[in-house]
Amino acid sequence: MRQPLIAGNWKMNGSRDSIKTLLDGLKAGIDEVKTAEVAVCAPYVYLADVQSQLSGTPIAWGGQNLSTEEKGAFTGEISASMLLDFGCKFVIVGHSERRSLYGEDDALVARKYAVARTAGLIPILCVGETLEEREKGIMEEVVARQLNAVIDLEGVTALNDGVIAYEPVWAIGTGKTASPEQAQEAHAFIRKLIAEKDASVADKVRIQYGGSMNAGNAAELLAMADIDGGLIGGASLKAEDFLAICKAAG
Ligand code: PGA
Repeated sequence: MRQPLIAGNWKMNGSRDSIKTLLDGLKAGIDEVKTAEVAVCAPYVYLADVQSQLSGTPIAWGGQNLSTEEKGAFTGEISASMLLDFGCKFVIVGHSERRSLYGEDDALVARKYAVARTAGLIPILCVGETLEEREKGIMEEVVARQLNAVIDLEGVTALNDGVIAYEPVWAIGTGKTASPEQAQEAHAFIRKLIAEKDASVADKVRIQYGGSMNAGNAAELLAMADIDGGLIGGASLKAEDFLAICKAAG
């Protein structure tokens, strides 16, 4: 049985005040979440606040990105050990916004995955096609290329140490969710691709769905056989909405 993981991706949102309100709300309701593992991925500058407010609760936390370097003259970068220093369990790598807006290619994302897992963080590897790629009928090709970059660098068993998030770019922040069938089809494809290399890794690896998942559509997405949780952007910014998604899992 794969335990579903519901992770909030706050992106570049929040303030010390709003995060306090959000985390107070999550802490008040987390006992009602019976099955899912729950985490929030915060902007770096708020990780200290998140750590002090979530320590001792069942809610884990993580970063949204990391450097491939360990330390030194890399202005503006944050290393894996810095994230660990603030108690992070997870880190998102290869989010489509990093790929498209900050030029992160498959090779760089694979290195970030490797650095994160070697350090003992759980990387959440984001993959997914753009609308143009879906319309061209190359969703599988794109997702396979993104995933194989990690497998080629690290070996398929490296996926034992991480989580995959299938996030069709056309569904992110657009309010246009993939249908449960569309999402399931992509998730099953990802699992099959991994199973061709190692059936036990494929069986165990958690594959989250991301892209406009919300309190209203979470249950039917999470009911699909190969959807093991969600990576939630917009709907993770309100405690009530995020908790509703967490409760819909499992
Ligand atoms: P969204 O974002 O839920 O706002 O679509 C998901 C993500 O980008 O991880």
